[in-house]
Amino acid sequence: MDLQSQIDKTKLPRHIAVIMDGNGRWAKQHGKMRIFGHRNGVKAVRETTEAAAELGVKYLTLYAFSTENWGRPAEEVNALMTLLVATIRKELKTLTKNNIRLEAIGDIKNLPPKCYKELKEAIELTKHHTRMTLVLALNYSARWEIMQAVKNIAADVKAGKTDVETLEETHFEQQLNTHGMPDPELMIRTSGETRISNFLLWQIAYAELYFTPVFWPDFRKDDLYKAILNFQQRERRFGKTSEQVTS
Ligand code: FPP
Repeated sequence: MDLQSQIDKTKLPRHIAVIMDGNGRWAKQHGKMRIFGHRNGVKAVRETTEAAAELGVKYLTLYAFSTENWGRPAEEVNALMTLLVATIRKELKTLTKNNIRLEAIGDIKNLPPKCYKELKEAIELTKHHTRMTLVLALNYSARWEIMQAVKNIAADVKAGKTDVETLEETHFEQQLNTHGMPDPELMIRTSGETRISNFLLWQIAYAELYFTPVFWPDFRKDDLYKAILNFQQRERRFGKTSEQVTS
């Protein structure tokens, strides 16, 4: 039986988050510049998005550019931004055809103006699509996101709009970029690294983590199916005992 048909469609993770890693090493293996790896990473983005939507996953979040990535050589950063703009523009038709909504998390206002404009337009044009939401994490860092939430809440407290005593997790979640989205149930990182790298720190409290040695440009539908099958074999206890969750 092929991998896709082994998946239990009634037990899909509602939200999958992916740390796309290994583009640079993949390019090096092929004797090419790092940007060659990023360009080939776009194929993996397309395949993963298609596979997730076909299965019925509702949210797919891809870590495309972290706040820390600005520290890379200017040449690579510029090439990545150009690639992002070109990819969003090129894939807009496919997103529309497949009823996929585009969203973004991160400090997107501080992306280069061209990138921000392209992104905002694509978000606006796809906002009524309902099959799946593709979330791009751009200029994103979880600590930045958490600090923004803290600052907003502190301002509300100062203005007398929020009472500290009655503050709950849900208030905090409303201030995060991901408000309205379910928490990721499965987080995948490619390239053999086993770190979270400042990605969705609050939201992955109970996510299952899956690490694969595959470099991102080589990631294909079957790799996503393997991750989901692995997820479905795990027992999610949320702090309870095995007997409690199976009874
Ligand atoms: C990590 O590999 C990859 C990135 C920082 C960029 C990912 C971007 C894309 C795949 C381009 C297009 C994306 C979208 C969503 C349109 P790395 O460079 O850190 O690899 P290394 O660890 O081997 O150096």
